[in-house]
Amino acid sequence: MALPHDVSLPDALHGPRVRLRPLGQDDAAALWEAINESRDHLAPWLPWVRHVQALADAQAHIARARTRWRRGTDLAMGIFARDEGHLLGGCTLYPHTWALRVFEIGYWLRRTARGHGYAAETVQVLTRFAFEELKANRVEIRVDPRNAKSRAVAERIGFVYEGTLRRCAPGADGKPADRMVYALIADDDQRPDWANDGENKIGTATKPSARSGDLPSPL
Ligand SMILES: CC(C)(COP(=O)(O)OP(=O)(O)OC[C@H]1O[C@@H](n2cnc3c(N)ncnc32)[C@H](O)[C@@H]1OP(=O)(O)O)[C@@H](O)C(=O)NCCC(=O)NCCS
Repeated sequence: MALPHDVSLPDALHGPRVRLRPLGQDDAAALWEAINESRDHLAPWLPWVRHVQALADAQAHIARARTRWRRGTDLAMGIFARDEGHLLGGCTLYPHTWALRVFEIGYWLRRTARGHGYAAETVQVLTRFAFEELKANRVEIRVDPRNAKSRAVAERIGFVYEGTLRRCAPGADGKPADRMVYALIADDDQRPDWANDGENKIGTATKPSARSGDLPSPL
């Protein structure tokens, strides 16, 4: 299902230290550099990284992401340092179904951005946006059980572990792999309160573009 007519996507989302926004072609060199310096820790968990072998692949990756953003089939964004503006990594808010408003969050950080809490902050920003602006019923994180760093992100910020789906998704080696499912639901008693006051509140959105699904910068 495509982007519902009543949904306006923001130009950007903010946390205290991160800014999330769709990548444009001006970001292709930074994306290429970030992936290249990070292959060792990305490739075991993100099979698409193997297909980015040149700047042109990063450009094509961004073009595909922008098409999916416009259609509302996947809301992928770059993670940027809010102050310095450099690229820290990437994230997605993937709508399993707009009809039921069920979303899945994905994330990665470049090598030099790990170990500062940027991934946890990014997930908090996306989760808040999903519940408050997109009226999500459920937000999931699915993790390969071998991915201890990613499991730690979900657990640290209070997502509830619901169970493990066995051999339900491809591992980076192409073989079927398990997924641990973490989730929050809209009326979850355990849903954490991540609110902060003022302009640094987690999940602050920049005003949406004129039409739903418009992108803030030219293709
Ligand atoms: C998963 C991934 C994003 C996690 O990165 P990360 O840096 O460990 O996660 P965070 O950004 O939340 O940082 C948490 C770490 O920063 C530390 N930290 C330092 N300053 C911090 C701060 N101000 N706030 C919060 N944490 C802070 C935490 O203590 C924690 O350290 P630890 O791992 O030694 O316990 C990263 O390993 C990655 O890119 N992996 C490959 C892609 C991937 O697996 N994606 C997920 C697929 S499901």
